[in-house]
Amino acid sequence: MTNKVATSGSLRNRLVFTLIGGAAVLALLFFFVVRSFSVQIAQQGQDNILLASATSMLDAAAIRNSTIELDLPYSAFSMLSTQADDRIFYAILQDGKFLSGYEDLVGVDASSSNTPTFKTSFVRGAKVRIISASRTLIGASERTEIQIILAQTQDDLSKTLDQISRNAAFLGFGFFALTSALSFWATSATIGQLGKLTKSVTRRGPQDLRPFKRSVPKEMGPLVSSLNSLMGRLDQSLSQSEDFIAEAAHRVRTPLATVRSYADATLQRVDKEENREAMRSMIKAIDESSRAAGQLLDHAMITFRADHLVREEINLVELTRDLVERLTPIAEMKDLSLALHSDDQVIYKGDPVLIQNAVRNLIDNAMKYGPMESTIEIFVSRVPSPSVTVCDNGPGFPVGEIESLTTRFQRGENSKDIVGSGLGLTIARDVALAHGGNIHLENKLEGGACVTLSL
Ligand SMILES: Nc1ncnc2c1ncn2[C@@H]1O[C@H](COP(=O)(O)OP(=O)(O)OP(=O)(O)O)[C@@H](O)[C@H]1O
Ligand SMILES: [Mg+2]
Repeated sequence: MTNKVATSGSLRNRLVFTLIGGAAVLALLFFFVVRSFSVQIAQQGQDNILLASATSMLDAAAIRNSTIELDLPYSAFSMLSTQADDRIFYAILQDGKFLSGYEDLVGVDASSSNTPTFKTSFVRGAKVRIISASRTLIGASERTEIQIILAQTQDDLSKTLDQISRNAAFLGFGFFALTSALSFWATSATIGQLGKLTKSVTRRGPQDLRPFKRSVPKEMGPLVSSLNSLMGRLDQSLSQSEDFIAEAAHRVRTPLATVRSYADATLQRVDKEENREAMRSMIKAIDESSRAAGQLLDHAMITFRADHLVREEINLVELTRDLVERLTPIAEMKDLSLALHSDDQVIYKGDPVLIQNAVRNLIDNAMKYGPMESTIEIFVSRVPSPSVTVCDNGPGFPVGEIESLTTRFQRGENSKDIVGSGLGLTIARDVALAHGGNIHLENKLEGGACVTLSL
């Protein structure tokens, strides 16, 4: 029987997706932070050069003989030269009136404060960075203000920014790839611990109820300790069940056997035929309940032992011979003989108590359903698999019922006046299945039933 456990998603996938998702968000964040920081720095650089250039122009302005002289220094333009040959525009204003340069700049710049101001705008269709700076010139009798508006296109700056963006993207992607690989590794390492525990639980088999001693990560401690306490309780209740079965068998069988012997003795003393008939029915009922109780307890014991199968090396021939010797007195009461045919020894690893119980049920059936004064043949063979076959010379299994006779409490139509509970073949089949084998029922062509218990 397989237990289907309700599962909801995979822990591994959940961990991997969370970590990779986190890595992707971090990589994007990294990309945008680096890019915006670079834009700021690059812009700052251009602004500094524009300021230096505008200042050197203003420094060149002077009032001589009441006229303003302004010789634009070469250095003011050379310091603005870039690899991308960015274009430069300038305008010179005196007291707000345009003097020289590009008149379009006058409209673009609106500020007229004393501190230099920067702004980004468009001049003649090109994106430019503009500085506006002014200086007050004081002559002998006059005072005037000179304003320089200087603009530079940003081709070089955008090239640099493109490069930085590309590099930041590569770095971000590299970071993402590395963290993804690390996520897989970390997930496998974490899940691996759970996997180890699962493996050691499944490898154990149902009979191994010892507590787990191997150290596990701290987070798994409560789980393992609950598992250990569960197994402890299970172990305790299982051994209680075993004791209970043995105790119950003893307590039921003994008084029934006593009652049976009293009933037998009473039957000898009773003369009246109707009383004798009543006594005989009573004895049959006692036999029926005694058999049923015995078989039920045997079946319970077999189910228990089959669940906790403890295998030991046994010689099947020896085990069967021992059983035959014990059953011979009972067989002789019915003028039956038991003949054992076998190899020297058939060594097999199994539970001797279970196997003996199964074979006893097969011989018991042959004695019950076979005719008096006949021989029951018992074969123990090694090939094709270790097996015990019991054949009798009776009428055989009722045709049509043969398939169902191994079912619990199922008795054939030939069992009418014979004491039984319909559990013998079920016990034999369960023992075979517990050992990885099976039971096979057939009727011989020449008559008689044969049952093979293969292990
Ligand atoms: N050797 C046999 N020859 C003919 N019929 C058999 C033989 N062995 C078993 N059967 C049929 O199979 C049925 C089931 O057998 P099974 O041993 O399970 O139960 P049972 O013998 O009736 O009761 P018990 O539990 O006491 O053994 C029997 O009732 C009988 O009809
Ligand atoms: Mg039987």
